[in-house]
Amino acid sequence: MKTFGYAAAALAMSLAAAPAFAQDGAQLFNMQCKMCHGPASTVMAPALAGVAGAKIAARQDFAYSPALKAKDGAWTDANLDAFLKAPMAFAPGTRMPVSVPDDANRAAIVAYLHTLK
Ligand code: HEC
Repeated sequence: MKTFGYAAAALAMSLAAAPAFAQDGAQLFNMQCKMCHGPASTVMAPALAGVAGAKIAARQDFAYSPALKAKDGAWTDANLDAFLKAPMAFAPGTRMPVSVPDDANRAAIVAYLHTLK
């Protein structure tokens, strides 16, 4: 764990624009999201590389729910925050089952999503 922490810190520092809490976001993501969201889309979940700022439900390699496809707009920080706070409120019928109730944890995860390219 210690080694991982240093590596993540080095990574966070090398990303000039990344907020300081992107490191915690990485740990939260690894614990709560990574089991479904890997580097490539699977039947479980779409890949999240480049998702920050992208159109909602825009990947060609994942079969989104009609609920998420029906959403207009892009994954702004506000939309990511609302979705992660309460997926079923943001897009009733979405197949994303996980919510992040804690405001600070959500902010850290959203910051981390910006680093996924
Ligand atoms: C149990 C599997 C699972 C877990 C765990 C999970 N997700 Fe998802 N996620 C999905 C699925 C399935 C979708 C597609 C939902 C749909 O089509 O309605 C999705 C969609 C998304 C999208 C929208 C992607 C796009 O291309 O528009 C984002 C952003 C997202 N998840 C973030 C997260 C984050 C952050 C976490 C961790 C806090 C997380 N997910 C945890 C299954 C999961």
